[in-house]
Amino acid sequence: MNNFEYQNPTKILFGKDQIENIKNEIPKDAKILVLYGGGSIKKNGIYQQVTSALKAYDFVEFGGIPANPEYAILMEALQVIKEQNITYLLAVGGGSVIDGTKFLSSAALYEGDTPWDILTQNIRTTKGMPFGTVLTLPATGSEMNSGAVITREETQEKLAMGGPGLFPKFSVLDPTVIHSIPQRQLANGITDAFNHVLEQYMTYPIGALLQDRIAESILQTLIEVAPKILKDPTDYKAAANFMWSCTMALNGLIQKGVPTDWAVHAIGHELTALFGIDHARTLAVIAPSHYTYNFESKKEKLAQYAERVWQVTEGTLEEKAQAGIEKTEAFFKSLEIDTKLSDYTQDYQGTAQKIAQRFTERGWKGLGEHQSLTPNDVEKIVEMAY
Ligand code: NZQ
Ligand code: ZN
Repeated sequence: MNNFEYQNPTKILFGKDQIENIKNEIPKDAKILVLYGGGSIKKNGIYQQVTSALKAYDFVEFGGIPANPEYAILMEALQVIKEQNITYLLAVGGGSVIDGTKFLSSAALYEGDTPWDILTQNIRTTKGMPFGTVLTLPATGSEMNSGAVITREETQEKLAMGGPGLFPKFSVLDPTVIHSIPQRQLANGITDAFNHVLEQYMTYPIGALLQDRIAESILQTLIEVAPKILKDPTDYKAAANFMWSCTMALNGLIQKGVPTDWAVHAIGHELTALFGIDHARTLAVIAPSHYTYNFESKKEKLAQYAERVWQVTEGTLEEKAQAGIEKTEAFFKSLEIDTKLSDYTQDYQGTAQKIAQRFTERGWKGLGEHQSLTPNDVEKIVEMAY
C-alpha cells in the first residue's frame, strides 16, 4: 500500500427530513445565495423545504445553472455575489449545481482578473467562500469531495478544478429526493458512480486489501440496487443504498494508498465538450475500449473484479479478465446506456485525432496509472469506441 494522507471535513446529514436541519449548519448572520438548476426543485417540493428551513435567514437565489455548468452563466451569479455582499453559498441540485457553486466559492475570493484562469492555470483553491449542499441527484460524489468540472461553450472546453478549500461544509443526502429523477438521469447516476470506482480500482494489485474490498462492495451494491431504483424510485431502502454508494464512490476514501487512472474521465470530458453527451454516457463509451486497449497492464485487477464482483469462476486469468470487460459493458446496456460513440452522433469521424490534439496542446501530462499513455494511445482508444 502506498503512503497517504486523508482528511475529509464535509459533514453529512443523511436521511429523510434532513433538509430542515440545514438551519443548524449555516451561521445565523450569513447572507446566503441559494443556487439551483433548471427548476426541477420547484416541481418536486425540494425548493419549498429549503426555503422554509431558511425562513429566519437573509437569502437571495440564483436559478438556471445548466447541466454541465456553464462559465458564462456562473459569471452572472458571481456578479450577484459581489453586488449583494453574499457570505455563504447553498447549492441545491446535482453535480452541475454543486460544481458551479464550487467554482463560485473559489471565484468569489479570487484576486486575479479572469476567474477562467483558475481552470486553465490549474490554480488550487486553498480557501473558498463557505458553502453547503442539498443533493438532489446521486451520481458525482461532488457533495463530499473538493473537485469541480466547468464547461465553457464558447471554446467547447470542459475543465477540472479543485483544492482543499472546496469541500462543502455540509451536505444533505435525503434519499427521497430521487422520486422525481427521470429514468435517464437515474441510469446516468448509477453509471457515473460505477465508473468512479473503476477508475480508482482498475489498475494493478498493490496489496491494498481493504481498499479493494470497499471498492468491490460499492460496485456490488450498485449492481444490486440498480434494477430496483429504475423500477421504483420510491423504494427507500434501494434509494438510500444508491445514494450512499454514489457518495462513497468519490469522497476520496477508496483512492487512498492505491494507484488511480482517470483516463476514462479525461477522455469522456472531451466527448461532452465536443458533442454535449451526458457525462456518464461518455464513460460508458470509453471504459470498455480503455480496458481492452490496456488489457495487459490491467488484467490482474480485471480478473479479480470479474471473480469477486461478477462471480466469474471459470477460465484462465485472461479469460476472466475478458469476461470482466464484457460484464461491465452488458451492465451499462442493462441500464439502457449505449456504449459506442456512433450511438450518440453521426459526426464522430476525426474525433480521436481532435481529442489527442487537444491534450497535446494543453501540455501532455500522461494518462493511465503509470502516466505512460501517449496522445497516440488516446487516439487509438477513442477510435475503438466509434
Ligand atoms: O437542472 P434541474 O432542473 O435541477 O434538472 C437536473 C438536470 O436536468 C435533473 N435533476 C437533478 N435532480 C433532480 C432532477 N430532476 C428531477 N428530480 C431531481 N431530484 O437532472 C439533470 C442532470 O443534473 P446534473 O447535475 O447535470 O447531473 P449530475 O449530478 O450527473 O452532474 C453532472 C456534472 O457533474 C460533473 C460532470 O462532468 C457534469 O458536469 N462531475 C463532477 C464530479 C465531481 N465534482 O466530483 C465528478 C464527475 O465525474 C463529473 O465529472
Ligand atoms: Zn464521473
